Amino acid sequence: MITICLVTGGNRGIGREVCRQLAQRGHTVILTARDAKAAGQAARAVSHAPRAVAAAPAMTAEPLQLDVTDEASVAAAARHVGERYGKLDVLVNNAAITYDTWQRATTADLAVVREAAETNLYGPWLMVQAFLPLLRASEHGRIVNVSSAVASLAGLGGGTPAYSASKVALNALTRMLAAELRDDGILVNSICPGWVATDMGGPGGRPVAEGAASVVWGATLPDSGPTGGFFQDGRRLPW
Ligand SMILES: NC(=O)c1ccc[n+]([C@@H]2O[C@H](COP(=O)([O-])OP(=O)(O)OC[C@H]3O[C@@H](n4cnc5c(N)ncnc54)[C@H](OP(=O)(O)O)[C@@H]3O)[C@@H](O)[C@H]2O)c1
Repeated sequence: MITICLVTGGNRGIGREVCRQLAQRGHTVILTARDAKAAGQAARAVSHAPRAVAAAPAMTAEPLQLDVTDEASVAAAARHVGERYGKLDVLVNNAAITYDTWQRATTADLAVVREAAETNLYGPWLMVQAFLPLLRASEHGRIVNVSSAVASLAGLGGGTPAYSASKVALNALTRMLAAELRDDGILVNSICPGWVATDMGGPGGRPVAEGAASVVWGATLPDSGPTGGFFQDGRRLPW
């Protein structure tokens, strides 16, 4: 059975490595990026990445333009996937912006907070609504919302307010979708990759491969796997 996976923000960082790891497992990967050229370059890099064993099947990543804040772009991507594959098995909502370490909740620029929510919350929400008919057409639908442990309400402080509020709300979306889609057999989880050395995470974080593996775990859950949870490296995080 061919598994079709779509990753947002697949041109760099954790998203690109998630694409590589999914392709390495033999899945068909639709690597999306808001810049079509960046999607093409990253998809070529993934397709030509070294394979675990020489005899392993060719790894393929198909590039696709997709800006999660642009309704027309999301609709066009859903149309394309529908026409080409007729279903979507795995949606990884990875794209995100604004790790606003320079702000505090009491003085935050609300324009920045709203802008972060457009990408980090409404983007994934729009993606799910647009791709839901295709996810329902899959027998093993999975939605991974890439979240962050900093959004755990249990430990929330006043820092990174735009980012944290958007990810807290994303976690709420995970719970709502999981409840609504349980009967469709679609598993929906929030996954934290840990602190990862990317453009967003900065130096000092763990290797991208480890962060991506945490996300891939949620994308490749068996049918008996959890739904409506918050995980890092396969272990539950407190909400
Ligand atoms: N790095 C960490 O330590 C860490 C920790 C916890 C959670 N996370 C989460 O992990 C995920 C990936 O983070 P990362 O560290 O890989 O970040 P990153 O290196 O900054 O990459 C972010 C990706 O999102 C894309 N993106 C931004 N806005 C977009 C839009 N409107 N439409 C489509 N794509 C868009 C970017 O595309 P462009 O190249 O076009 O900008 C880029 O591909 C995020 O959800 C982040 O919140 C990261």
